[in-house]
Amino acid sequence: MHTDNLVTLDRGHLVHPVVNYRSHEQRGVTVLTAGRGAYLQDSSGRELLDAFSGLWCVNTGYGHESIVSAAEEQMRRLPYATGYFHFGSEPAIRLAAKLVELTPASLQRVYFTMGGSDAVDSAIRFIVNYWNAQGKSEKKHFITLERGYHGSSSQGAGLTALPVFHRNFDLPLPNQHRIPSPYPYRNPLGSDPAAIIEASVAALRGKVRELGTDRVAAFFCEPIQGSGGVIVPPKGWLKAMQECCQELGILFVVDEVITGFGRTGPMFACEAEGVTPDLMTLAKGLTAGYAPMGAVMMSEAVYQGIAEGGGAEFPIGHGHTYSAHPVSAAVALEVLRLYEDGLLQNGIALAPRFEAGLRSMLAHPLVGDARSRGFLGALELVADKQSKERFDPSLKLADRLFEAAYGNGIILRAFADNVLGFAPALCYTSNDFDLLFERLERTLNAVLDQPEVRQALR
Ligand SMILES: Cc1ncc(COP(=O)(O)O)c(C=O)c1O
Repeated sequence: MHTDNLVTLDRGHLVHPVVNYRSHEQRGVTVLTAGRGAYLQDSSGRELLDAFSGLWCVNTGYGHESIVSAAEEQMRRLPYATGYFHFGSEPAIRLAAKLVELTPASLQRVYFTMGGSDAVDSAIRFIVNYWNAQGKSEKKHFITLERGYHGSSSQGAGLTALPVFHRNFDLPLPNQHRIPSPYPYRNPLGSDPAAIIEASVAALRGKVRELGTDRVAAFFCEPIQGSGGVIVPPKGWLKAMQECCQELGILFVVDEVITGFGRTGPMFACEAEGVTPDLMTLAKGLTAGYAPMGAVMMSEAVYQGIAEGGGAEFPIGHGHTYSAHPVSAAVALEVLRLYEDGLLQNGIALAPRFEAGLRSMLAHPLVGDARSRGFLGALELVADKQSKERFDPSLKLADRLFEAAYGNGIILRAFADNVLGFAPALCYTSNDFDLLFERLERTLNAVLDQPEVRQALR
């Protein structure tokens, strides 16, 4: 079909995630048509270097024939098997065992979902069920970090602490609470790692005290806050939060939907600090975006608590038609094989190149901060490097940056508060990084050359 027709049909019918509907109608869709390695092609034939792995998910890069074959073979053999009525399929069972082997030792049981939002939603339901089963039915309050993102489900979007996910959605719920983000670049305590960690621990203790220890169910966090602007806490922060949760008797839930599967170096960010959560949510890199799938991992204690509390005659009423989908599971098994077969190693080997490239951008007049861990990074653009003052939102700098980057052949994430997010695929080579930073510098220069932007710079 001709692209103009697709744009018209899209404008008329397809509702897109997290856009302003009126702006989208006006702008129209950009149709992507093909992908290979770290590169995408759009319907005009333009080749683009994808610096965001789709939506921080295509960690393998595009076009892996072995993943296609795994899906095709499974589709021919058995395209669907329900997990209801005690049925199952080989790839899903093998995948569950593989994830238990790869994730921290505390996690022994897996429930599969279609993505991250329903993984978070499932985690919330399991936690509520667990505390009720323990006879602690007053434990109903959830604490997250400001700027945290935990998906778009009816309850998960309330754990998400980004205003647009609440506006007109009657969220957050009265049992959903927040503590400040560690945010080293903008932390009022400065950037001293020990002070940042201490402040987060004190804030969590304070919030639990305020709500009542007996009333708090769990603390949810991302090891690195992704959609909140790629906020990288100091090393040791995650471990300190786990220890604090243990001490307070609340469940510690790590949302590794972005940070999992080599994104920050090791298979999971928890691994780097020896963190053993009570529950973990996964998606994205699990199937590298080749098929939809997410997972909630839980400790044996949580699983047994729910199982025992359920009573002998009742099923646990939580399920999805596509839980443990065999095609997604077959894809995930092959994706995991590729990570272990060299992709993770490549990500670890080239992380210093990525970090150096980001840091080199600090010399640019627009760039106030460069931060990264592994292949997850960001540049924060400011109007004034001294005071860290942000650009006025009316300048719509993020839109200018996204469009200029696209024009220069890169796809990156331009967050509304002028943070540029990067999540290159683990297959990136040094040459890909050379190209990325060359195009990025050109993009920043082009935006700086716009008279309104130059004028806004202090
Ligand atoms: C940390 C985190 N949790 C949950 C989600 C939701 O996942 P999904 O978009 O697959 O529903 C995301 C998505 O970006 C995420 O970054």
